[in-house]
Amino acid sequence: MKYPKEYLQEIKTRLKISTVVSKTVSLKKRGKEYVGLSPFKTEKTPSFTVNDEKEFYHCFSTAEHGNIFDFVMKTQNLKFGESVKYLANLAGMRPYTFSKEDEIREEKWNKYKLIYAKYVEFYHQDLFKNPLAKEAKDYLKNRNLNVEEVKKFKIGYVSNDENFKEAIFKEFTESEIKETGLFYFDQNKKKYVDRFRDRVIFPINNISGDPIALGGRILKDNKYLAKYINSPETPFFKKGSNLYNLDFTRKLSNNIDNIFLVEGYMDVIGLSKNKVENVVANLGTSLTTRQILTLNQFFQHITVCFDGDESGYKAALRAAENSIVELKPEKEISFLFLPNKHDPDSYVNEKGKDFFEDFSKNNSVPIHKFIFNHYSKEMNDNPSSRAIFEKKLRSISSTIKDEFIRKYVLEYFLEKISELTPNTNFKYNKNYTKLTKSLKSTQNYYNETKSLSATDIKEFSFLYILLKKPELIKDNFYLIENVKLFSSENKLLFEEIKNQTNNFENTDIESLKIDKSLVDRVFKYASIKHILIKNKNDDENTLEILSELIRDLKNYELELRISELESRFSKDLSEVTFNELKELKKLQKTN
Ligand code: UTP
Ligand code: MN
Repeated sequence: MKYPKEYLQEIKTRLKISTVVSKTVSLKKRGKEYVGLSPFKTEKTPSFTVNDEKEFYHCFSTAEHGNIFDFVMKTQNLKFGESVKYLANLAGMRPYTFSKEDEIREEKWNKYKLIYAKYVEFYHQDLFKNPLAKEAKDYLKNRNLNVEEVKKFKIGYVSNDENFKEAIFKEFTESEIKETGLFYFDQNKKKYVDRFRDRVIFPINNISGDPIALGGRILKDNKYLAKYINSPETPFFKKGSNLYNLDFTRKLSNNIDNIFLVEGYMDVIGLSKNKVENVVANLGTSLTTRQILTLNQFFQHITVCFDGDESGYKAALRAAENSIVELKPEKEISFLFLPNKHDPDSYVNEKGKDFFEDFSKNNSVPIHKFIFNHYSKEMNDNPSSRAIFEKKLRSISSTIKDEFIRKYVLEYFLEKISELTPNTNFKYNKNYTKLTKSLKSTQNYYNETKSLSATDIKEFSFLYILLKKPELIKDNFYLIENVKLFSSENKLLFEEIKNQTNNFENTDIESLKIDKSLVDRVFKYASIKHILIKNKNDDENTLEILSELIRDLKNYELELRISELESRFSKDLSEVTFNELKELKKLQKTN
């Protein structure tokens, strides 16, 4: 038994070979090709190449070579039929089962395609030839379309002429025609009526380029008629699975990483006319996850650019919430908002390609920021509104399928939420050294001892005071009792000093039970010594300096605990960890 050519071709069309190969081989882009380590041989330098345009892979070290089916057969040890099943599933296609039912379906599909092809071709030609199409031609002219775009998108006009209808009803059976949705039966008139009569038609193609549905626009805006209609859903056309212009743009995807997603047919055509050709439209329905997944097969980055009005904004928000679910680490989804009253068609026509592309580069907002910004604008300054806000963001992030994306989006949300909460507001600062507020008088000395860390130097100064002022320390033991040091050597020394002091002895350097070189280091590097010598007997001053040192050391400790907690939080995402983090950050601020 043989698979029909079209079925195999559709698999190839839907799946880039690099997408399939990269599931098992890690690939790097090099020019038009991808390279990686051969799956057929252990090797250290990559000799395995994949070419999406030519739809094959080649291994220079083993001379293995083939298409997507060969790759799956060889690397997974499958028979041809099994590899077809595997890939069809990956491509989101129905399995091919060779039953009688499938044969009938195949037959119907062929008729369906044929009727659409004839219909589209006829009314496209008719637009140029038929005198009844004059009004439509003028309309397209008024909308600044040239013959070039009309041809590229096979735009047509369905006039009142009955000739085509008669011909098509002679050639195909009633049920075959009914299935296309191009005609419907009018119960009053007792005859079939052209659904798209008096409309300019925009053929909607499947990914392989066959027209499978239409969009139709009336010529004059009219209260009683919908401005646009689409073919109804049929066994071969599901709105949520198709995208207008995808058949064309997928061919650009070997060279372009970004795709614009717009609302309307005219947006696609307007951008395309202005040479922004990487654009598709979702056919007047809200964006589905199926559509996102399809686009991601071909493009790394999706830029959603809906109309700059309220309904465009709402649609964008819905699209964001639907599509964040499918966000993958190597993919990006952003949103571009146009000035009020513009849609992509009007904007690009007014401003041109370069402006539009720059505008898009500078103004696109990543999906998680858009969602956050939207809900934060909706939030009021009261506890219950804030609670609803936080819950909403948490519930959105919990829908994300990819665990890494889920983790980082939630972290982004919570981070931003804690910035909004006045009492836990903090200046987030990962840089340890910045937190060290050095005493002015010791700054010069710091410069000489750059090889030591800022913490080391603080610790030396701290220990220096302990060693030099044993009386004072003994009287103010509570001050130093709970200080934590970081360097393990300094810790040893500190413990020993505490032991002695605890025994109500003044610290006596000679009797410390530790390596004396530790003490020497303190004397050498403690920058504080220069100050202390000058103010020999000023205990009050010494205590002040000591407190300042202790406060800095505590900040280091906090900083360290915060960074530990942050890394724990990114793993466990637990409420408890998050609250603990919040508390620490609050503390850090008050210090
Ligand atoms: P718009 O009304 O923004 O379309 O609807 P547009 O492309 O800007 O229209 P014109 O021709 O320039 O005035 C965007 C899309 O929403 C769907 C269509 O797919 C349209 O392209 N739509 C719109 C409908 O399905 N029905 C309608 O009545 C209106
Ligand atoms: Mn519009």
